[in-house]
Amino acid sequence: MFNQKKIAVIGAGHMGRALIGGMLRGKLTSPKNIVATRRDEEALAALRRQFGVHAVNDNAKAVAGADVVILAVKPQASKAVLGEIAAAARTEQLFISVMAGVTTATINALLKVSCPVVRAMPNTPCLVDAGATAICAGRHAGGAQLELAGAIFRSVGVCVVLPEQAMDAVTGLSGSGPVYLYMVIEAMIDGGVKMGLPRAVAATLAAQTVFGAAKLVIETGKHPAILKDEVTTPGGTAINAIHTLEARGLRSVLIDAVVTATQRSQELAKLYGD
Ligand SMILES: NC(=O)c1ccc[n+]([C@@H]2O[C@H](COP(=O)([O-])OP(=O)(O)OC[C@H]3O[C@@H](n4cnc5c(N)ncnc54)[C@H](OP(=O)(O)O)[C@@H]3O)[C@@H](O)[C@H]2O)c1
Repeated sequence: MFNQKKIAVIGAGHMGRALIGGMLRGKLTSPKNIVATRRDEEALAALRRQFGVHAVNDNAKAVAGADVVILAVKPQASKAVLGEIAAAARTEQLFISVMAGVTTATINALLKVSCPVVRAMPNTPCLVDAGATAICAGRHAGGAQLELAGAIFRSVGVCVVLPEQAMDAVTGLSGSGPVYLYMVIEAMIDGGVKMGLPRAVAATLAAQTVFGAAKLVIETGKHPAILKDEVTTPGGTAINAIHTLEARGLRSVLIDAVVTATQRSQELAKLYGD
């Protein structure tokens, strides 16, 4: 798909490395076509060793030689890094950004070039090829650019296309969502320990239960409420637990979590240039 396109990954930290790994494992491209940047020399050497890619600490040079540029620095570094690479940016390049809260309009404005920009909101499970990513097209990007960007994010999980105004809600749901589930897993572990299970055993059972339940939702395509009803025996254990969860407002609290995280994402977006 990428043929011999040159890809620059600007700020190859956790997310940048996950995307490089996904693209190489998915055979979308080969190491010789990728250049990764960051400032730390030892980390650059580690990138060369791990992936066999080019790794340099010169963002402008990396962008100058690229057809596709993946922007993976932290949002706080966006203004400085986009300013640094602006002179090397060209209209025929595709820019793909994973920087949370930085809009495509801001990226185009800081690059001072009407190039296609695709913005993505991935999540940490991309690091284990189980990510959930939403992408949106900027003003100068269309179907072909969404297709290229989508292939990258599908190499590390699932990817959906949405309008840009949905990105804050995506941040509140899947972007921040792993955190909610870590808390659920942690609490389930404590419940198991309270009832006498060794902690390591409880941890294995709790994590696998969340993983397995998600896998059933995905693979059967059934509504979660149907799956819940299917395992709820009349007068049994699950219905008693459900009553407790409803009484303490589990659903309401999770809905509120998505709402407040979305609102915070909207506030942060204002800080990064809107
Ligand atoms: N992790 C996630 O789950 C996740 C989810 C959604 C979105 N994102 C987005 O992904 C982006 C990266 O997040 P991350 O978790 O991967 O952070 P990270 O591990 O800190 O990666 C950012 C990298 O940028 C490099 N960097 C900083 N300043 C630079 C500069 N001037 N030039 C070149 N490289 C520079 C840093 O390396 P040096 O210090 O060596 O320069 C660092 O390795 C963020 O914008 C975040 O919003 C992440």
